[in-house]
Amino acid sequence: MAYRNLLTHDEGAVRTITVNRPDKLNALNLDTLNELTLAFGQAAQDDAVRVVVLTGAGDKAFVAGADIAEMNAYTPTQALSFSRIGQALMLTIERLGKPVVARIPGYALGGGMELAMACHLRIASNKAKFGQPEINLGLIPGFGGTQRLLRLAGRGAALELCLTGKQIDAARAHALGVVTEVVEPEQLDTAVKAVAEALSVAAPRAAAGILDAVLGGGECAIEQGLDYESQGFALCFATEDMREGTSAFLERRKPQFKGR
Ligand code: COA
Repeated sequence: MAYRNLLTHDEGAVRTITVNRPDKLNALNLDTLNELTLAFGQAAQDDAVRVVVLTGAGDKAFVAGADIAEMNAYTPTQALSFSRIGQALMLTIERLGKPVVARIPGYALGGGMELAMACHLRIASNKAKFGQPEINLGLIPGFGGTQRLLRLAGRGAALELCLTGKQIDAARAHALGVVTEVVEPEQLDTAVKAVAEALSVAAPRAAAGILDAVLGGGECAIEQGLDYESQGFALCFATEDMREGTSAFLERRKPQFKGR
């Protein structure tokens, strides 16, 4: 499917989705949010896709935020709808059931940082910058930033970044647990490819179970989280992949997971 604001590309079981508005530093307007929702829905449904890489076009920005020009004219009702659409997209990504890796070459600000935080792993160039600068616009984060930053980096960092609106570099984002790995800009593609390829040959049911248990379990009492884990663990025993993984270990060979 052709999109106005996105590019998609498949390599093996890895689908790369690129926000393609480089002249606006890949800012998220409503049209782009809707296209991302469609693109992630398609990736979720396509069994041939085992991993999604999300990035922004060019080397200057991942995504420099929600589209400020579009928001400038919004009424409160339109803003509520924009926030809900953005939040629903972030939840779709977070609960995709397949690993999503953010490739972050540059600015990940506002909605861009929120989009990155909805992904499961974040690999950044050491040139990348992060921040929740909404307060500088007389706003608060509207796509889940207050909640995901709180969960990823704790209350101190969430309040610091949201209240000051300041930009932090990739090293600080890494120290806060917001970024998984920081690399030289010229190593970004190699690092993302290595992680995506490793995930693309992992057993999909096991990956989905981990995502369910960590993401669902993080939002409830430990007893319920442990129940998610037990259910996910048991479900793996219904897969050929689990028999293959355990047999391969016993036979001292590499497993070949088929996604069954
Ligand atoms: N929404 C809409 N347009 C944006 C944008 C955003 N969030 N971020 C950047 N752009 C546009 C700029 O308006 C400019 O467009 P123009 O060439 O038509 O004027 C273009 O992208 C390039 O941005 P520019 O500001 O000229 O680049 P820069 O290198 O001087 O600064 C940033 C880069 C990221 C520091 C700066 O663009 C910025 O602060 N962006 C907004 C960040 C933000 O507040 N995000 C949260 C939004 S809720």
